[in-house]
Amino acid sequence: MKKITIAIDGYSSCGKSTMAKNLAREIGYIYIDSGAMYRAVTLYSLQKGFFTEKGIETEALKAAMPDIHISFRLNPETQRPMTFLNGTNVEEAIRSMEVSSHVSPVAALGFVREALVKQQQEMGKAKGIVMDGRDIGTVVFPDAELKIFVTASAAIRAQRRYDELRSKGQEASYEKILENVEERDRIDQTREVSPLRQADDAILLDNSHMSIAEQKQWLTEKFQAAI
Ligand code: C5P
Repeated sequence: MKKITIAIDGYSSCGKSTMAKNLAREIGYIYIDSGAMYRAVTLYSLQKGFFTEKGIETEALKAAMPDIHISFRLNPETQRPMTFLNGTNVEEAIRSMEVSSHVSPVAALGFVREALVKQQQEMGKAKGIVMDGRDIGTVVFPDAELKIFVTASAAIRAQRRYDELRSKGQEASYEKILENVEERDRIDQTREVSPLRQADDAILLDNSHMSIAEQKQWLTEKFQAAI
């Protein structure tokens, strides 16, 4: 059967990753969480002290880019993808609020995007891939056969993120999460390089009032129609 490229873009914490991951597992495609790559670069920058009161030291980060190696491996027990930064498993560390509140300015840097987009395109060369992010259908894979753009109300997205963190036993404040979700949306939509926007040929999904099972079925139908 012919393999296609599936691009899933949308707002912060709208459940794109869950949908994308579920579909990839069901159809035997590779799944890549492009946001994890921007998060890994952010974690590296935090670890190296590139963030100062004035913001991020772009020259230091630019010089360090060749030393940042990001890869993905499947957890053999859970079959969930894990993100590695220079050989260390950072899957949990990149999901922290600290990384969430520093990632959007890093993702707005042209040289960061250029380096990561190149790697993402390489990963998708053989097709058979589901990638989620903000610019997958517009920049990374403009020729993807199936493009989805996901949205949901900010309040619902913040609640989902809050529930997710709490279920992992982490401390969380709903207000802070809502603020972070709205701030990331604002930066992602207004940045000069590859702003978040729906590709002209993407199918819009507002999943505010859909269960995970309903989203899964919706996406499977779109996939069937695309192949
Ligand atoms: O998808 P996730 O919320 O984990 O992504 C974290 C951040 O990385 C986003 O808020 C956005 O600033 C950035 N991002 C991006 N382009 C992508 C994926 C993520 O700019 N393709």
